[in-house]
Amino acid sequence: MTHDSPEFNERLSRHVAEVEAAIRRLTPAPETRPAVLHEAMRYSLEAGGKRLRPVLCIAAHALFPSVLSPLPAAVALECLHTYSLIHDDLPCMDNADLRRGKPTCHKKFGETTALLAGDALLTHALWLLADAYKAAPAVAVGLVRDLGDAAGSRKLIGGQVEDTIGTAGANTPERLDYIHHNKTAALITAAITMGVRLTSAPSAAVAKAREIGMAAGLAFQVVDDILDVTGDAATLGKPAHADAGNGKLTYPSLHGLGASRGKACELTDTAVRLCGELVNEFGGTTDGFLVALLRNMENRIN
Ligand code: IPE
Ligand code: IPE
Ligand code: MG
Ligand code: MG
Ligand code: MG
Repeated sequence: MTHDSPEFNERLSRHVAEVEAAIRRLTPAPETRPAVLHEAMRYSLEAGGKRLRPVLCIAAHALFPSVLSPLPAAVALECLHTYSLIHDDLPCMDNADLRRGKPTCHKKFGETTALLAGDALLTHALWLLADAYKAAPAVAVGLVRDLGDAAGSRKLIGGQVEDTIGTAGANTPERLDYIHHNKTAALITAAITMGVRLTSAPSAAVAKAREIGMAAGLAFQVVDDILDVTGDAATLGKPAHADAGNGKLTYPSLHGLGASRGKACELTDTAVRLCGELVNEFGGTTDGFLVALLRNMENRIN
């Protein structure tokens, strides 16, 4: 299955539809009191988005036998990710007006509601894991640990701190990799490890899944940096050329566009190779969807 085949696109659309139905089922209805808060949460969740983290979780889960549905974990990942985007767009962070092709949450609902909608999505993600998997407590604890670790002060938030308020710091490759591994690759890693954790695969397979996530996640942020330079707002659904305007340390700003493209390709090749090892070493089966998804992430235009 190649990343541009009809077979891949059909599978991707099917999983996106499953995730979107699960989002509506597993998050509070917009009319829930206080309605303004739940409307804002649903507005950002349902604005669109590629749903890559939930679909990565589903694709990794499909490699091994499992009696547990990946959908609550997929929804938890999307809630956590959407919270991070709502806060990332605030005036005190990247100050963006457009997200997923629509006005950002704070433009639509005001800063106070946007801040609180983000807080609520973060908490909902962790609650949902604990609630949905309570009949399998060891799995539930593992999932909460994976997501809490990825979203915490040493990973996602640490990366956001150095990205946002660290702009006066030294622009070294080491600092760039710290930012990208933590603000983005950590959550992508959690998506893949959580998918595997929900299966009968041994814990060594979860460790291998983590390596895939680090490579694929770093590639993802390198491509995001490239698209900020080469894309336009209509295609991206978010502002273009924002990183230069905000003085961000990015792959193209430090290494140039050509080297950045090479890096995204090299990292994706590594992730693809590691997927093969994961399947072969731990007795998994695959029809190639996860690998095609990684190639799709490398070649995306938004
Ligand atoms: C955007 O993530 C933020 C980054 C970590 C680069 P996505 O590109 O996955 O955004 P959506 O979910 O499709 O809107
Ligand atoms: C966002 O990185 C990372 C998180 C939200 C944790 P960016 O600031 O590069 O994402 P975009 O480009 O606004 O989507
Ligand atoms: Mg940012
Ligand atoms: Mg941003
Ligand atoms: Mg960006």
